[in-house]
Amino acid sequence: MSTFQAPKGTYDLTPPRSATFLAVREAISAPLRDSGYGYIETPGFENVELFARGVGESTDIVTKEMYTLTTKGGDQLALRPEGTASVLRAALEANLHKAGNLPVKLWYSGSYYRYERPQAGRYRHFSQVGAEAIGTEDPALDAELIILADQAYRSLGLRQFRILLNSLGDKECRPVYREALQTFLRDLDLDEETRRRIEINPLRVLDDKRADVQKQLTDVPKLRDYLCDACKAYHEEVRALITAAGVAFEDDEKLVRGLDYYTRTTFEFVHDGLGSQSAVGGGGRYDGLSEMIGGPELPSVGWALGVDRTVLALEAEGVELDLPATTSVYAVPLGEEARRVLFGVVTELRRAGVAADFAFGGRGLKGAMKSANRSGARYTLVAGERDLAEGVVQLKDMESGEQTAVPLTEAAAELAKRLG
Ligand code: HAM
Repeated sequence: MSTFQAPKGTYDLTPPRSATFLAVREAISAPLRDSGYGYIETPGFENVELFARGVGESTDIVTKEMYTLTTKGGDQLALRPEGTASVLRAALEANLHKAGNLPVKLWYSGSYYRYERPQAGRYRHFSQVGAEAIGTEDPALDAELIILADQAYRSLGLRQFRILLNSLGDKECRPVYREALQTFLRDLDLDEETRRRIEINPLRVLDDKRADVQKQLTDVPKLRDYLCDACKAYHEEVRALITAAGVAFEDDEKLVRGLDYYTRTTFEFVHDGLGSQSAVGGGGRYDGLSEMIGGPELPSVGWALGVDRTVLALEAEGVELDLPATTSVYAVPLGEEARRVLFGVVTELRRAGVAADFAFGGRGLKGAMKSANRSGARYTLVAGERDLAEGVVQLKDMESGEQTAVPLTEAAAELAKRLG
């Protein structure tokens, strides 16, 4: 193992690609910030118990993928595998739900950890931007979140994504379906592990990717036929609101999701250019999660979009984000005296709000101009001994190539003016 190698299943974000990640986080969170969602940040780790109870004892995430650790003080912690349980925990702890302002709308952005088998688009450390709307049962809230995710992806220029939508029923109708499903599944020809799954988490069997399993599921009872009237009406209203907003979706009754807390609305954003890890984001309603972690009844809904996979989706579609150059002015001093003087001009420019950089290390003109080019700066300032003797600096417009001598004392103001 080389010392300079990131751990298995992880990778570093370095310039210039890292700029795209920042832009994606910004694009996903912008519609949320404009829609009343406040920013929340929670610790990177929590008590194991929170995820065991929240995400579900029988899920792959909890049984196989959680990074757990025991602290020197004996606490059992886990690196967070997802954000929803943490955000709800934090909202309850801060009593946000008691401020008389429901729903509590929150957004977050951060790192998550799952001990998965690494492959393209599946990492052990990944980033999500997420949103949770806590404490209100209203189909318009489910619709709002789906519409905002769609808006975020469109603002990035993504087009080849699809929205899959389903309802998982509630605590009235889901148990009835679960039993009917178990009765059906127990009669099939399945391996030991899948048989165990029938008893603890039968809905996950529907999600089995193997063809021989799927073949046996042709006549499986459909959740749709078991939804109670309230769930049906709720789902129809969500569908109607999204449709009215002009957001296309596909009904997918096989969509069950990998976390146990979902009730009623569930959805996933999939991108067709990503191969097997096609889910770029997902979410749904979790009306029972608060009680599962010991809180009051707080019907809620949310989603998380994967930043890593969204960047892969952009690359798959060949979308180049229009990222403005971070540097507007690049200063190239020739000689000791010029270094001092131009460094002063750069400081002045920065204080005036102009993004400026400097050729450090006393490099020659050629190398420094290469750096100026690479920085994407619109203007370079060059000064040597003769310029300083005349009290000027050379201002070069990198787009037109035009160069003019500007009085040193006016250089910063002139640049600020030209850059608007
Ligand atoms: P999730 O579907 O497990 O949902 O994750 C959401 C997104 O995170 C995925 O669609 C994917 O883009 C990204 N993701 C998950 N695992 C990995 C991985 N190993 N490598 C790269 N990207 C990954 C949740 O986490 C729920 N908390 C979403 C939610 C919020 N539901 C309600 N509120």
